[in-house]
This record gives sequence, structure tokens and C-alpha cells, in this order.
Amino acid sequence: MNKDIQNAQQRIEELKQEVSKHDHQYYVLDEPIISDFEYDKLFSELMALETKYPQFRAEDSPTLRVGGQAIDKFEKISHSEPMLSLQNSYSPEDILEFDDRVKKFLKSEDPILYFCEPKLDGLALEVIYKNGLLVGGLTRGDGKVGENVFENVKTIKTLPLRINSPQTPELLEVRGEVVMLKKDFKRLNEHQVNSNLPPFANPRNAAAGTIRQLDPKITASRPLTFIAYAKGLLKGLNISSQADLMQNFSDMGIKTLGLAKKETDSPLILEEIAKNYIKNPKRTPPLCAICTSATEAIAYYHFIGKLRPHLPFDIDGVVIKVNSFELQEALGAIARNPRWATAAKFEPEKATTTINNIFTQVGRTGALTPVAEMEPTEVGGVTITYATLHNQDEIDRKDIRIGDTVIVQRAGDVIPEVIEVLKEKRPKKSKPFIMPNTCPVCSHPVFREEGEAKSYCINQICPAIIKESLKHFASRKAMNIDKLGDKIVNQLVDAGLVTRFSDIYRLTKEKLLTLERFAEKSAQNLIDSIEASKKTSLARFIYSLGIRYVGEQTGLVLQNHFLQLDNFLQTKPEELIEIRDIGPKVAASILRSLEDKEFISEIKSLVKLGVDIEEVTLPKSEELKLSGLNIVITGTLPVGRDEAKKLIQSLGGKSSGSVSKKTDYLLTGDSSGSKLEKARELGVPILNWEQFNQLISS
Ligand code: IVH
Repeated sequence: MNKDIQNAQQRIEELKQEVSKHDHQYYVLDEPIISDFEYDKLFSELMALETKYPQFRAEDSPTLRVGGQAIDKFEKISHSEPMLSLQNSYSPEDILEFDDRVKKFLKSEDPILYFCEPKLDGLALEVIYKNGLLVGGLTRGDGKVGENVFENVKTIKTLPLRINSPQTPELLEVRGEVVMLKKDFKRLNEHQVNSNLPPFANPRNAAAGTIRQLDPKITASRPLTFIAYAKGLLKGLNISSQADLMQNFSDMGIKTLGLAKKETDSPLILEEIAKNYIKNPKRTPPLCAICTSATEAIAYYHFIGKLRPHLPFDIDGVVIKVNSFELQEALGAIARNPRWATAAKFEPEKATTTINNIFTQVGRTGALTPVAEMEPTEVGGVTITYATLHNQDEIDRKDIRIGDTVIVQRAGDVIPEVIEVLKEKRPKKSKPFIMPNTCPVCSHPVFREEGEAKSYCINQICPAIIKESLKHFASRKAMNIDKLGDKIVNQLVDAGLVTRFSDIYRLTKEKLLTLERFAEKSAQNLIDSIEASKKTSLARFIYSLGIRYVGEQTGLVLQNHFLQLDNFLQTKPEELIEIRDIGPKVAASILRSLEDKEFISEIKSLVKLGVDIEEVTLPKSEELKLSGLNIVITGTLPVGRDEAKKLIQSLGGKSSGSVSKKTDYLLTGDSSGSKLEKARELGVPILNWEQFNQLISS
């Protein structure tokens, strides 16, 4: 093998292991050890190398997580062992009865060890590992037959694509819950609303909608989390209890909820954990416990109840399981419910309150969002005052008015949703709410396009838009100016020191010291963090600019395609549309920005002021036969089009969808369609399958 190719193969293997390790650190352990910037770099290098050398893309490469081909419908598959369900109760005292039932059935008075877990509010999923490799994933379905959602399962970052453990079982079916984290849910709903799509009612619906997406690329763009809690079939590994199972999962790199209390620990340890976490809710504490009695299990129920509003995901109760697998087997199941487990649920996080006012917020794109200001009320331990109403269509659909009595639900994060209006309590003279036709911040007339759900303030210098754009620019996944928080942005704009992105890089310590609340040290810290943000990647830079519909993922796609800022700035519509993963709406929005003279001059100022975008370099590829060539395919080929396309790519070439002046060859099967005509017209050389083979073997 050629030396360069050998090096590439080795580097791909190294990068695959590096990226997988960091995925595990970040998603499973919640303990990243490198910055997002460094991670992006490793990931893009791997993507680029694998695109160049697809023959070395491994079956467990983390780049598989970006999602494969879309499908028409899901295939049905039987579970090898039925997925049971639990009997629910709403009263923790029922745990005492459960304990009695277990002992009676086992005809024993001995204390039983219970493994206690939060009841996750998502949907059940089974994933299958064969000799360590992730090979399947199916939904619970009716418990007997589920749907094959493997393509989507691969995109879930908390699931290792290969498990690494000293004893890799021959077959392992892992069961658990797919959830969407509250923060991911909030982001998704913002995106839904901005794209004129209805928001999801809660994280569970969002997770269910995402795992049953027919296009895995959509699934990949909406982060899901898998948390393991049970097994199906298992071959080649002996496991004796639920505690043992969870420890094994965690050793294999599969996310579990961690053990807060061992059987020998006092239940007081739970109180200590709850107290510390509520005081400092940065890292999710371990959430499972081994309890030695029903009373301890009841204390556990209250422990989880206290943590519930602070956790990063929704839960709706606790599950109490007999720990020993031997006893579980002896207990068996009645109908679809095991005798060895029970669930004690919490009341839903809903409350009734009244709407005192509806006001309008202006976001970074100028979008106007109506917000309900309510009589403060407690929902699941948290006082809430505001609820987002999304847009005029949502208000109309639910017919929400000022003065209404409504049921609110905390749907992920702290921002609740109005789920229902109690019309019988509506004040007599209430009127439907209509969004203002001028911007509430700058009074400029607002604009609502035909068929769009949102209205926009289109005043480029609206202070609200400026502030929100700057907050986005400075945010962690964008330029990551960590000392430039929301309050400081507001202060800088109000003081007239900053009105556009580049002004941030024109700030000096002296200017900052003229502002209230700034002292020598805080001013220096801000200047240092602005300085540190200058070194960045193309993906982050593009994302920071706040082009409509260009999120983080699109930033990465554009980086991988253009490699350098100048290439991006000079792109043409034909080129943008050709990029896989860039749809017409996104392309149009990018072009609109690139045609805006002020936008371009702002980018140039940023570069002049020292923003340093790291160049992405692709591996050398001159030695590949089709390196740099663009070969368009038409007609029926002996090997199928996809196959031919892959072959072209593996030899360093690319294959666009249409013939243009940039096309190097047209590869034709038996056809005489429009592409052939166009190629003749433009003088593009035409190859049949045989000639193409000669070209690649010459
Ligand atoms: S154990 C037979 N553990 O609750 C027991 N289930 O009604 C199998 N669930 O469909 C499930 N958190 O979706 C178990 N820690 C947990 C759970 C859990 C949530 C869900 C699961 C299942 C339903 C049972």
C-alpha cells in the first residue's frame, strides 16, 4: 500500500478512537476533557479523511452518527423476550404493600434488597450488541413487536457504537429509555417555531417524534439521550443482580444513572446528596439506590421527588425492583407485569393560574414572540410567572386571551407552556389577542410574510435585535467569549459602545472602565476573554454570524465543504445548492446574507481586527486516480448509481447531480437524456462504463 494511504488509514483509526473517547466523556460521563473547539477539529479531520478514503470508514466510526439514508417506513421486528410494563401507583405507601406481596409470594420474612431508580419519562427502546458491535435498535411497540429504528439509534451519542469491556458478551440486548434533555428540547422548540413548524408539547413527544423520524439526518440534528435500566437476552456474561447489571453497563460505556446509595450506606446519604445538588446543580448526582427495606424505598421516593424539578431530564416517578435476578425469576410475571417491580409515580407538573398580561419579545432574527405573564404559581416545586405562546397561530389555535384561567405545564426547562384554556372561567368582555403591528422595542412596523407563522421587526438597527445577535455571537458554541454574558451585552449596547460584532474587538480596558460595575480586574478579564475568542474555526465563525437557518450543524457542513473563509464568501448559488445537507431554504438565506454589502464588510472588519480562522487542510490526494475530477452520472449503469458514485468518491473524485462547465466527464449508461445533450453542448467528454473503467485502471 502507498505510504500516504497507509498513514491516512492509521490516522483514521487514531481519530476514531479519540473522538469516541471524547463522546463518552461528554455524553456519558458529563465530564468533557477538551474544548468544543478541539473536538470540532478532530471530528472534521476524521470526516474529511473518511470522505477521501471511504474504504477505511469503520463500521463503528463516530461519523456514522450524522445519519444515513432516509427510508419510507419502519420494518416490524419481534423482541426476543417480551418488553414488560409496570403497574403504576401514585402513592408511595403502596411500596409497603408491594414489599408484602413479594415476601408472601416468596414465603419468606427475610428483608429484600430493592434496587430503586427514577422512572424516566421518555420511551422504551432496546438496542442490540453482537460481539461488542452495535447492530440493532427497536422501539418497544406493543411489547412483543417493535419497529426497527436502528438508523436513528446510531445517532444517539450516549450509546457506544462498540462496547469495550474485558468480557464482551456474545449477545447483549440493552433496554432503556430514550429521552430528550430539557435544554435540547428547548432548543428544538425554538427551531420548530422559527421554521414555521408546530412546537412539541413536551420532551417525551419530541423524543418519540425524533426516534420515529424516517430521515436519520433529522434525528441526528435533534440530540437524544439513551439511559439503560434493563436487559433482554444476554449470552456470554453472568450477571446476578440489577446492581451488577448497571455496573456492567457503566463499565461498557453505556449511560446509567449511577449509584447514590449502596446497601451498607445510611439513607441519610440521600438527603446529603439532594441538599448539595439543589445548592449547586451543575452536575447530575448519582440517582439510583439499593434500599434494604420498604421504608428506605419510600425515603428514596421523596429524595427523587425533591430533585425532580432540578434534573436535566423529565421523570415521572420511581421504579422499585427486587435486586436479585434469582429472586426476580422466582417471582415471575402476571400477564404483562413483573411481580418483582413496581412504579410509584409523581403528580404531573401542571398547575392552574391566570394570565395577567401578554407582551411581545424581540429575538435575534427580529422575530416577535408573544409571552404570557401569569399570576405566579408553583409547578413541581418551582415558581413560574412566564409562559411562551410561540406565535399568533398558536395563540389562535388554543384561543388564549388576557384574563384567561389556564392550565400550565412545565415542559422541559423552566419555560412552561399553556396547555389548555378553561373557557368556562373566561371573563365576559375578553377579546382575542392580536400581535402588535409595530415592534415593541423600536416601534418600526413589523412584517409577516404570507404563510409564515411569525412576524418580524425588520429594522436592522433595532436595539433588541442588536443585543440578541451579540449574545448569540458571544455564546459558548459560537465565538465562546465566556466573560461576555447577557447583562454585559445589554450594558454595552445601552452605553453605545457596541452596535455590531466587530465593535467587541474594538473595546479597550479604558472604555470598559467608564461603565458602571466595571473595575480593573473585571475589565481585564473581559478583554482577555475577547482576545482568546479570536482563534476559532470556520464552522463556529459562520454559526456566530447568525445567518438565518444556519445552526451549528450547518456551520460544520459549510466548513467541510469550503475549508476557507474566502471560498465561502465567494460561493455561487449553483455550488451551494449542490452541497449535500444544504436545502434550498438554507441556501437562499446564506446567499441573501452574502449579497449584503454590510454583512461582508463586517466580516472583513472582524478578520482585520484579528479574528483568526483556522484553515482546514485536507489530506494530500494527488495519488488518487480521480482526484479533483467531477464526474456526472446519467442512465443505468451495470453497478447501480450509488455504487458508481461511491467508487468515484473513493478514488478522490466527486459526482455532482447536473452537468455544468465544471464537469470533467459525463459517465453514461444506456440513455440519451438531457444530461447527455447538455454535455455535448458544453463539450464535456463522455464516457461509457468500459471507457470509465479504462480511465481508472490506466
Ligand atoms: S424497568 C418490567 N426501569 O416505564 C420492567 N422501566 O411501565 C421493565 N421506565 O416501558 C421496565 N424508567 O419505558 C424500568 N428505571 C426504569 C424506567 C422504566 C422508565 C418506563 C419504561 C417502561 C415503563 C414501564
